[in-house]
Amino acid sequence: MLTNMGDREAQLRAFDETKLGVKGIVDAGVTTIPSIFIHPISKRPLPQKTNTTNVDDARFQFPIIDLRVSENDLDHKKKVVDKIREASETWGFFQVINHGISDEVTEDTFKGVKEFFELDDEVKKGYYSRDYANKKVTYHSNTDLYTGLATNWRDTIACTMVPNPPHPDEFPPPCREILPEYTSQVMKLGKVLFGLLSESLGLQQTHLCDIGCAEGLNVVGQYYPACPQPELTMGTAKHADSVFLTILLQDQIGGLQVLHQDHWVDVPPTPGALVINIGDHLQLVSNDKFKSVEHKVLANYKGPRISVASFFTTFYQETSTRFGPIKELLSEENPPKYRENTAKEYNTYFLEKGLDGTFPLLHFRL
Ligand code: OGA
Ligand code: NI
Repeated sequence: MLTNMGDREAQLRAFDETKLGVKGIVDAGVTTIPSIFIHPISKRPLPQKTNTTNVDDARFQFPIIDLRVSENDLDHKKKVVDKIREASETWGFFQVINHGISDEVTEDTFKGVKEFFELDDEVKKGYYSRDYANKKVTYHSNTDLYTGLATNWRDTIACTMVPNPPHPDEFPPPCREILPEYTSQVMKLGKVLFGLLSESLGLQQTHLCDIGCAEGLNVVGQYYPACPQPELTMGTAKHADSVFLTILLQDQIGGLQVLHQDHWVDVPPTPGALVINIGDHLQLVSNDKFKSVEHKVLANYKGPRISVASFFTTFYQETSTRFGPIKELLSEENPPKYRENTAKEYNTYFLEKGLDGTFPLLHFRL
């Protein structure tokens, strides 16, 4: 199964040129996965029993937070802020319920993304691109195809929605109405979350938004086709998110796992809940108070699995906003741990390294 690098490169190019992604391979009816998708043994999922923890184990109860807060009930509000602080400092992840995004909107979002991937091949190919910096809507397979260590069993449609959304014509028809609607609701929720996160850092409610954490939003539909040999590959290799914050909508298939106290813990699909996680850039501005935690997605027999990740960042766009550890959090005992950078600098470095590479945060460490 050893392929030399030149061979792998040629196979990646051939795969890229099909413009049909992993779904194209599945549609062709393969029963064994092409070698570019085979991950080294050490990175593959372990047999289920030892790989995942039992979610009934009280130590590993994945945090779930009810966001229904009334500004007048200060006691309850304080409890929510405390729970968010605790989860952000330990898990780097939590789920939220009563988040204000209706089931109808989330269902339509899943439907729009699914219908995009199921469009006619020739129509879908027209959206295929790796010009992430200049195109607002790109469909591709493996954002880090040529830099990542291994190829993942997943296709992607990525839309830059904030600050400058695509023209309606740039969206594929199944996503044209729903993605702007979903975006406006995610932005509202994002502002609520950044408010609660600011308070849990002991800052003014508007602090994280004021410094620019909600300046950009990318909404990314992930499509994980059913895989004939899920034990040999990954849906998404281990990584932490480069961004400030991610709001993730996952369907009922499961497979998302988070590294917690040296265990890979399942993030249980929970109807109506959204998964929230702290990204590297929020860890950086919080000077390591909040944790950006590694996670991965297993490939599966049952697919397609669909998820929609909303990333708060301006990614590769040129912006003048610079980010460093927040001054109000620093003291003699807590000096800044990172040098200032822009979102573009950080994300570009992250993409160069690819998923499952080194820890990109270390590169910015003082
Ligand atoms: C990501 C990610 C998880 C998922 O896109 O960064 O971790 O469930 N996605 O698709
Ligand atoms: Ni992620």
